[in-house]
Amino acid sequence: MTYLTELTFFTHRVPWGLSFVLSNLITEEVQIMELTFRPTMEDLCGALFAQDKFGAIVAASPRFLGFAGAISEKTDRYVSAFTDDQHLLVRGTDGQIRCFLNTCRHRNAQLVPLGHMVNGKMVTRTGKVAPTGAITCPLHRLTYDEKGTLRTALAFPKTPCLKLHEVPIEMVGGLIFETGRGAYSQLASVMDSPGFKKFGITPFARAAKMALGFSETSEEDFGTVTFMEVFGDTDHVDDIHVSSFHQQVDMSTLELEYGEDWSVQFVGWREKTTTVAPEYQRYRGLVLARGGKPKFGAVWMSYGPNMTFEWYPLGKDESGEDQTAFVTSVCIPNGMKCKIVVEFYFPASLLATEEGWNLAQALRDAYMLTAEEDRYPCISMEKGRRTLVENKHGDEGLGPIGPQEGCVAHYYNLLGRRMKALAQREACNV
Ligand code: FES
Ligand SMILES: [Fe+2]
Repeated sequence: MTYLTELTFFTHRVPWGLSFVLSNLITEEVQIMELTFRPTMEDLCGALFAQDKFGAIVAASPRFLGFAGAISEKTDRYVSAFTDDQHLLVRGTDGQIRCFLNTCRHRNAQLVPLGHMVNGKMVTRTGKVAPTGAITCPLHRLTYDEKGTLRTALAFPKTPCLKLHEVPIEMVGGLIFETGRGAYSQLASVMDSPGFKKFGITPFARAAKMALGFSETSEEDFGTVTFMEVFGDTDHVDDIHVSSFHQQVDMSTLELEYGEDWSVQFVGWREKTTTVAPEYQRYRGLVLARGGKPKFGAVWMSYGPNMTFEWYPLGKDESGEDQTAFVTSVCIPNGMKCKIVVEFYFPASLLATEEGWNLAQALRDAYMLTAEEDRYPCISMEKGRRTLVENKHGDEGLGPIGPQEGCVAHYYNLLGRRMKALAQREACNV
């Protein structure tokens, strides 16, 4: 495994206030981030991505397997929601994390089959393997050790020589990625981010004291690109999330920061609220009751073509330390549509108390309300673009990119680089 040890990348940070001043000086299109790639309507919603080009871009990008907070104790196991249950992460009795394809080598059943009763117990995403680290397939009870070697196969006169397919992993803080896809080099610079330092957040902190609270999956009627655009577009927050997220954050404090493959939006806590949705009222009330106004309102980060990481305040613990929730999402492309997997991580000590669970649930409910509201801009943009394409105006291109849309421009640029790399790979294969 590779651990983050050095900081290598240049980062670029722009307070939104500065870009606003610029926008008054320059009445033409103003961009914080220069657009090096201007996608066409077809790129965004038409034939190109429908032909699995976007799927190929994602397939060639770092593959996120999970957060070590899901397997912080020896013998913990986690079936990755981010890869559609295809990967099994296990922390062995030696404390090492190993990753296997979640497939038994006998008749190829899922080794850990989610949502099924086994020995009278429902198998869930997280849990334990045997105290020895052994993993037993429920179908015919073939048993593998924690290194994936088949140890017992009772139905066979002699135990066959078989091993689970092991997937090499690398770690960036507590994030677990498949090795060899560039995640480490792409994300190293985040650890040096001035914004995270300012708000007292350690991004991707080693996850020994974090625990998985909730895992949510939804099938969406829009594509990954649209979701990532909306995620990077801060300009809609005050209009679309009027009684929800808008009441949580003060968008006038927005600051942006960029690395080559990631962009981050930092926003302060809103002090004066108006009409607040019950979900946000509950969450905000519980946070404020734990030490008063937190250092920030929300931090959200876009990474690569289909991943996001977010941080939300949880108030202070008994010792006065700020506590932060970590939310991570992966958009799994499915032609013109996508599946979104979201997981919420919290300090394990918080989840150990009823009061802490209430706060965790309150954050989850508030977050899911905003996610529900985000379906409107996503579907609306897709419908508008399809209208242009189907009425032969697909080459009109995008409108101007405003100063608050730097992360959208950053995402288009990233897409442009990935599409170019894909075209080069395809040309080499010809
Ligand atoms: S398929 Fe796993 S033991 Fe038979
Ligand atoms: Fe939104």
